[in-house]
Amino acid sequence: MHKGIFITGTDTGVGKTYTAAGLLNALKKMGINACPMKPVETGCNIQKGKLIPQDAVTLINASGISEPLDVINPYRLRPPLAPSVAAEMEKTAIKKQKIFSAYRYLLNKYDITVVEGAGGIMTPVYKKYLFLDLIKDLGLPVIIVSKPVLGTINHTLLTIATARSRKINILGIIINHVCRIKKGAAERTNPEIIEYLGRVPVLGVIPYSKNPASPLTEKIFVRIAEKILSCL
Ligand SMILES: Nc1ncnc2c1ncn2[C@@H]1O[C@H](COP(=O)(O)OP(=O)(O)OP(=O)(O)O)[C@@H](O)[C@H]1O
Ligand SMILES: [Mg+2]
Repeated sequence: MHKGIFITGTDTGVGKTYTAAGLLNALKKMGINACPMKPVETGCNIQKGKLIPQDAVTLINASGISEPLDVINPYRLRPPLAPSVAAEMEKTAIKKQKIFSAYRYLLNKYDITVVEGAGGIMTPVYKKYLFLDLIKDLGLPVIIVSKPVLGTINHTLLTIATARSRKINILGIIINHVCRIKKGAAERTNPEIIEYLGRVPVLGVIPYSKNPASPLTEKIFVRIAEKILSCL
């Protein structure tokens, strides 16, 4: 198959890692050889003198694969900032060629590579080069992770419009209950409105649950993974 998907979100902290981990676990259960990639991770802590990219580690654990960390996560930085800002602060240069070659290696080796961005689609990777540019250069279709709450129509439609402005294929939206909330009118109506105004499918709604591999949540991720595979 040798395909890739890019997981972006309407914001930081919407559940991109949680969703990517849920999908990787579901793909593994389906017998698909799937692997993660987190091109740049910021906000890494130091343990025993080494920077630990927690998102990349979570994704590696969910997929069960074994690869050198530098391939899955070519760049890791300490400041909890946008990659371009964190790199400047640390006096490091992020080079897209290094990301491309790691991605090509994974693409050739695995059935599907699940790439997680950082922040949202307009977050800068370095200087004026945005995740939007990286998605375009890697030629990847995107999945947009959105919140279920009031305000998400605006954020989701802005992300859709931005991706479309560069002719990026949008596979769909995953609405993720990142917090435990009481479902109101906004949460009930948002999926339908987003599908109607955004002209994209809502692939699924993920409930609040500590573990993306818990039986109920896993079932939902398997259904979403089946939909994704049918579009690739
Ligand atoms: N459906 C969910 N149920 C319970 N907790 C969730 C859910 N989705 C996400 N979380 C939790 O919310 C927090 C933020 O999620 P996550 O780290 O996946 O966001 P992100 O979009 O990847 O953030 P970043 O931009 O920093 O990469 C994490 O602690 C995660 O475990
Ligand atoms: Mg993340």
